[in-house]
Amino acid sequence: MRLYHLNPAALASGMLIAVLLILVGCSTTITPTATALPPNSPEARGLALFSGKGRCATCHSLSPDTVIVGPSLAGVATRAASRESGLTAAEYLEESILLPDKIKAPGFENMQMDTSLAKTLTFDEISDLVAYLLTLK
Ligand code: HEC
Repeated sequence: MRLYHLNPAALASGMLIAVLLILVGCSTTITPTATALPPNSPEARGLALFSGKGRCATCHSLSPDTVIVGPSLAGVATRAASRESGLTAAEYLEESILLPDKIKAPGFENMQMDTSLAKTLTFDEISDLVAYLLTLK
């Protein structure tokens, strides 16, 4: 059974939807603010965790090329995909949090991200954080 009949009107509306999705995608990635993320989504919970007192934002800026203690995480989702061969962006980000001594950001090889931090996070919180970091394209 065919679900879609490819007539020009359907194609045009499909393309319109695609363009709208791309626009929505861009606006959320350029300004990753709490309001741009669907409320109570993993990404929004991840942002709240990221910005929490004493947490990630203490050491990581979201403005490009701004080093607080660790590297800026602006665009990290894009970089993460090619950091370690064999690791997806999500796996790289997860390992960056869980095994900071094993995974090192280029230029920060001599620095140590706080390993105790990961121990204060639950599995669900780490997965929310990774979901949020993946929006930083
Ligand atoms: C005490 C400061 C500090 C805190 C807090 C901290 N980081 Fe880091 N982070 C670093 C440093 C330094 C590096 C670079 C060395 C390394 O890669 O281990 C780093 C590296 C990273 C990287 C790799 C970036 C890249 O470009 O490859 C990610 C991702 C990351 N941190 C995420 C987080 C998240 C998420 C949190 C909160 C759960 C967090 N960090 C909390 C200092 C910190």
